[in-house]
Amino acid sequence: MTNTIWTDSIFRWAGSKRKLLPILINNVPNNYERYIEPFCGSACLFFAIKPMSAILSDINGELIHTFEQIKNTPSLIAKTLSNISVSKEIYDNYRQQKPTHLTDFERAIRFTYLNRNCFNGVYRTNQRGEFNVPMGTRTGEVPDEIRFIKCAEALKNAKLISQDFEKLLPDIQKNDFVYLDPPYAKKDYKGRGEYGPGAFQYEDITRMLTFLEEVNHRGANFLFSYAYDEELIQQLPQSWYWESVLVGRHVAGFSQHRKHVQEILVSNYKIKI
Ligand SMILES: C[S@@+](CC[C@H](N)C(=O)[O-])C[C@H]1O[C@@H](n2cnc3c(N)ncnc32)[C@H](O)[C@@H]1O
Repeated sequence: MTNTIWTDSIFRWAGSKRKLLPILINNVPNNYERYIEPFCGSACLFFAIKPMSAILSDINGELIHTFEQIKNTPSLIAKTLSNISVSKEIYDNYRQQKPTHLTDFERAIRFTYLNRNCFNGVYRTNQRGEFNVPMGTRTGEVPDEIRFIKCAEALKNAKLISQDFEKLLPDIQKNDFVYLDPPYAKKDYKGRGEYGPGAFQYEDITRMLTFLEEVNHRGANFLFSYAYDEELIQQLPQSWYWESVLVGRHVAGFSQHRKHVQEILVSNYKIKI
């Protein structure tokens, strides 16, 4: 897949679906009333298609809080960030700060600064829920003010919620389009705090499938992206569709170790690859 599609998304995010955007966009249903993303992360699909009505949800409270602040004060956030220099000393200082001791605005600045300058856009915490990713070497420039304003405009149409994906079920209605992109959990691997406390584990796949059955039952369309997993494929109802796709990814987080990995798309309508 060589085509790239622009998205106004602000954050660098491990597991972002930027590379899959051409296929994802091609598979967004033509007629839907609301866009719902229960594992939104950097929400790169949302910021590429900018739906008229949406719910963006994620278990990461700092992420959702920052989206809320960008929605309200995009220019102030962009200007403040552009005046903070990039250095390990400042990075480590932000990393040590406790979000609960900061104002709403300071929390958003801290989150965005750490995200733009951490190693590979990884969000990982220790057991106390404290962000513990070191500074990266190939860090991203802070996007310009115009990009923050464009994000804020798109976010004006979105309700933002921080919660476990399952809690979103009562909100889902007929004619919604639900795009789900949970972390690729591995069997017998509890993780090292990737995506923070309460993050999706391999055992949650069963919950996920029950969730999808209920989304389908409610008359909504869903598109679900995941790692290629035979056990998961075996559990899919016959009436659903799935396709495998090859995606170029950096392995073990290093740019020189790039290879094509097999992923799948699952849906309750026909998928175009
Ligand atoms: C692979 S990332 C999503 C990436 C996103 N599609 C993008 O393009 O940036 C998975 C997201 O799921 C969130 N997450 C993990 N466990 C969750 C849970 N149990 N409920 C809701 N969100 C969860 C993580 O915080 C992370 O942002």
